[in-house]
Amino acid sequence: MSEYGGWIPDIEVSNGEARMLSAEQLRQSRVNAAYLRYFEGYRSRYFYEEFIFGQGTEQLLGLLAEVGQKQRWLDVGCGTTTLFWSVPLDEVGAIDCCDISVEAMRALLDFIMSDEIPYCYEQALAMSNKVPHHLRLMREWFRKFFVFDALKGWPLHLFEHNYDLVTGIGIFGLAKTAEDYICAIRSAAQKLDRDGCMVGADWVRSSYFIEREHFDNSYLNISVIAAAAERAGLKLMRAMDVDIKDDPLYSKLIAWVLHR
Ligand SMILES: C[S@@+](CC[C@H](N)C(=O)[O-])C[C@H]1O[C@@H](n2cnc3c(N)ncnc32)[C@H](O)[C@@H]1O
Repeated sequence: MSEYGGWIPDIEVSNGEARMLSAEQLRQSRVNAAYLRYFEGYRSRYFYEEFIFGQGTEQLLGLLAEVGQKQRWLDVGCGTTTLFWSVPLDEVGAIDCCDISVEAMRALLDFIMSDEIPYCYEQALAMSNKVPHHLRLMREWFRKFFVFDALKGWPLHLFEHNYDLVTGIGIFGLAKTAEDYICAIRSAAQKLDRDGCMVGADWVRSSYFIEREHFDNSYLNISVIAAAAERAGLKLMRAMDVDIKDDPLYSKLIAWVLHR
């Protein structure tokens, strides 16, 4: 298991079956206890105590703040962090989540169903000029939880509608090659409304982390994002490349906004 990265390498969709779960179904799903502990540990290590500046997070919160009013939001590779990324957003009408791991979404759901506001959330709220009540509202908008491999062909039959906001934060950069990355963005773009927008962020691994996990995403750069946008029929509206200093795992964050 990846000790710090927030994902479990080589994990597959449990039962091999892509599916959509309501919150109640997710609450009752069978989970792997070790995986659940892993995701709970990830949340408490990275999204619990003091806000860590210099990792690109503040820039990403800034990009999300520019998204404007949206009705239907799909967070791809949500892990345990969707509520955090909801901080700078205006109120939405529904939030759906997708992850390959049912355990990641269970850890997210347990957190959503609590009324806990960790310290870094308080700080992000203050930075975004939002009040804690914003999170109470956002917690009520979670609707569907999709379990599938978002880096392969998408199970389009599971979806009832498209989205005017699709986010992919720390997910597409888990694709093994630039071509796989481009295909994954194109798959996600299929669920984007005509006037929708996609916001993503990818952390480029340091050589230490590449060696440690034998996974190299140094193919990532703004030209690859531009190629992905073009192949998906989207316009690249914003792209930023933020150097990360003094982090053993990541050297750079690339964050982007694509529009139909
Ligand atoms: C680095 S974490 C990022 C989680 C979250 N978006 C965040 O900002 O903290 C990557 C997430 O993507 C999920 N994931 C990894 N591979 C996936 C795949 N092929 N399809 C869908 N989700 C995947 C992992 O289970 C994990 O929850």
